[in-house]
Amino acid sequence: MLKRVQHDKLMDEQKLLDEIAEEIEKCKTCKVGKTGKPVPGEGDPNAEIVFIGEAPGRTEGETGRPFIGRSGQYLTKLIESIGLNRSDVFITSPVKYFPIKSGKGRAPTDAEIAHGRKHLLKQLVIIDPKLIILLGKVASKAILKKDILVYLDHGKLLRENGRTYFITYHPAAAIRFQKFKALIEQDFKLLKRLIKK
Ligand code: URA
Repeated sequence: MLKRVQHDKLMDEQKLLDEIAEEIEKCKTCKVGKTGKPVPGEGDPNAEIVFIGEAPGRTEGETGRPFIGRSGQYLTKLIESIGLNRSDVFITSPVKYFPIKSGKGRAPTDAEIAHGRKHLLKQLVIIDPKLIILLGKVASKAILKKDILVYLDHGKLLRENGRTYFITYHPAAAIRFQKFKALIEQDFKLLKRLIKK
């Protein structure tokens, strides 16, 4: 009986997430200055942990799947390092399409982050995770609505608006700079201990 209830709940949550994915697909504002397929996010609709990035890259825009390019492969390894698989968590970003300028990827604007937040918050209400991992400055800005200094706040748990957050570096920054790689890996070791509790 319990299994049946859990199964039905999961199906309902997936249906609601699919509805948001449809909203994102139809959203005209989301598409401005961006290209490719919508990347709403993927994973367990009932996940206890949600990872939030920045914006899809070219590979993600081509496939419609989050974090599958170079930084995504590194994120996948980090998730596995804490004893989980991608399918155990939910992975998404505040910006839902690949931002582009003159054929090249670009950083999302504040307005784009603020807009994407609306879709993202709806996803979080459905998933209702125990812990949200904010991967870098853009994720933190989208959720906490303020600029944070990742080098000061990474590796810390934060409780705000009834939710618990853990701030760390974006995997792309860690790939680019060795010093951030050491720090993100240190943060994930801490995260592993935290989720065991
Ligand atoms: N970086 C992100 O922040 N999100 C993705 O989906 C891919 C790369």
